Amino acid sequence: MDASLKALFDAADKAAAKAYAPYSKFSVGAAIRTSTGYIVAGCNVENAAYPAGTCAEAGAIAAMVAQGETKIVEIAIVGVKTNPCYPCGACRQRIFEFSDTSTRVHLRDGVTGEAITHSIDALLPHAFGPRDLA
Ligand code: THU
Repeated sequence: MDASLKALFDAADKAAAKAYAPYSKFSVGAAIRTSTGYIVAGCNVENAAYPAGTCAEAGAIAAMVAQGETKIVEIAIVGVKTNPCYPCGACRQRIFEFSDTSTRVHLRDGVTGEAITHSIDALLPHAFGPRDLA
């Protein structure tokens, strides 16, 4: 893994360590590299009223937008288990909104430490998106 991808995973790990997941005990962190080179991160934040909880990706995207950025160059997602933490369906849609064909989604194999990289198109083929409302 090159140094810039490691920095992205480090930011995701740091956010995951702060996750508020008392119910599922499944901490998740996500870190986005924006088109201006910033790294913004988020973690899952659960709620006693379960559906009100938010995913790590949603937190990272909110941080990106609050910074005035709307393009995900790459996003790293980490969970606490050894299997790669694939984004849920809703988060695939959230990522798609701010992606283009060059956007990379990185997961990590917790056993080997290797990065697994996908395009958002591979994770959410035939997506409904902004162009459908244009
Ligand atoms: N979770 C995320 O934060 N991102 C995902 O893409 C998958 C699931 C969180 C939501 C919930 O707090 C916990 O993981 C268990 O589902």
